[in-house]
Amino acid sequence: MNYYIGIDLGTSAVKILLVDEAGRVVNEATKGYPLRFPHPGWSEQDPAEWVRGVSEGVREVLRGVPQGAVRALGVGGQMHGLVALDMDDSVIRPAILWNDGRTAKETEYLNEVVGRDKLSRYTANIAFAGFTAPKLLWMRANEPEKFRKIAKIMLPKDYLVYKMTGVHSTDYSDASGTLLLDVEHKRWSKEMLEICGVTESQLPTLHESWECVGTLKPEIARELGLSETVKVCAGAGDNAAAAVGTGTVGAGGCNISLGTSGTVFISSDKFGVDPHNALHAFAHADGGWHLMGCMLSAASCNKWWMDEVSGDTDYAAEQAKIGPDKLGRNHVYFLPYLMGERSPINDVNARGTFTGLTMDTTHADMTQAVLEGVAFAIRDSFEVARSLGISIPRSNICGGGAKSPLWRKILANVLGIPLDMVATEQGPGYGGAILAMVADGKFGSVQEACDKLVTVASTTEPEPELTRLYEERYSQFKEIYPAMKSLFPKLA
Ligand code: XUL
Repeated sequence: MNYYIGIDLGTSAVKILLVDEAGRVVNEATKGYPLRFPHPGWSEQDPAEWVRGVSEGVREVLRGVPQGAVRALGVGGQMHGLVALDMDDSVIRPAILWNDGRTAKETEYLNEVVGRDKLSRYTANIAFAGFTAPKLLWMRANEPEKFRKIAKIMLPKDYLVYKMTGVHSTDYSDASGTLLLDVEHKRWSKEMLEICGVTESQLPTLHESWECVGTLKPEIARELGLSETVKVCAGAGDNAAAAVGTGTVGAGGCNISLGTSGTVFISSDKFGVDPHNALHAFAHADGGWHLMGCMLSAASCNKWWMDEVSGDTDYAAEQAKIGPDKLGRNHVYFLPYLMGERSPINDVNARGTFTGLTMDTTHADMTQAVLEGVAFAIRDSFEVARSLGISIPRSNICGGGAKSPLWRKILANVLGIPLDMVATEQGPGYGGAILAMVADGKFGSVQEACDKLVTVASTTEPEPELTRLYEERYSQFKEIYPAMKSLFPKLA
């Protein structure tokens, strides 16, 4: 039996899957690492922690598997993070992550001075604080010594691939989120490189996600307990990898991910741009494209509310207090902007808030408001897609938050569509394993692999009466942010 490894390089942990050639997940390991907030709104991680997590996790999933049985490996990784290496391949500074909000000034410069029209023409996107290009501008302005030392620029998963193979590569889906890629023509944008003061020689080579970029370096193979012949594919940004993992490939599919971030991912076989650039226009890991809305705090809002505020880690017991009679009737609202917000409001100053509290508000009402606030914010991105004439009759759903039946029910009714959970719900990790299988030649395309391997295990249907109640709640939710917007910069 042959095996494949799929790696999901997440924000709170790296998850490693061992998948057999029939597509069954045989072993799984999760290795957590810290996320550092050295200033309010900043978010950093030490790339050495990712490498450590992968090394421990891979050895763990290999227990009991014959040496040489693993054929290929694929990584889906947190997007947009800036990893910069010097001439000696040492990491110059901690990685600046996708949910870091330090680049307000640089983002404004790109959007207002360079101009949104030009950015959209060069890259199909405008600047958002978490994207990689504004981070390069920030480093150039604030850490000029370090900026001058940069020999190689890469994204988080590309750092893992580089450590494993010695090849400086990336794939189109992840490269799309740098704001340095001409997404339509799948090549680095000369104009953007010039604006950011970097050269193509500092950037990784571009590949389709399923392309094999190299094999394991002998010392890495020894350390991991794998053979040197293991192929490593280019991999994908975690959202594109999750879309592959849930079978959201080709034209017209939708996947919602409720992880640390919350995303709405709409796959397409044609290149297209949101004329207002509220949704990102990125390449997909199946060779096509996608539009995506990304909220910065999704399942992380519930984690914050439970772990940090409530001091209670029994999420299921807390959610059991929210009976069916409560749904669609909550008078408490929560804005989920704990890290500022990206899609669709693009506001680094936005903050989390509870509104509508009264003397009879219970803890469970507030928990419910957190789950609902995230669902309403996902709906905001849906509304943008609908305004572009895109029809989304149903969606896949994955990520840690999707494991909660209550949250799925709330979301299905807030959106008014059925939500499908696939049997292999591991999202980016499973997508990474599928890409590895295609790299190994087991399937002719990503689409073919998904058709053969991914099946729907359960569906959460919306209920007409509950959808109606949530329609009313959503119309109220929509008024809260505009009413508070001008206050947020003063609080920041
Ligand atoms: C997508 C984004 C997040 C991260 C999370 O644009 O920023 O979904 O990829 O890992």
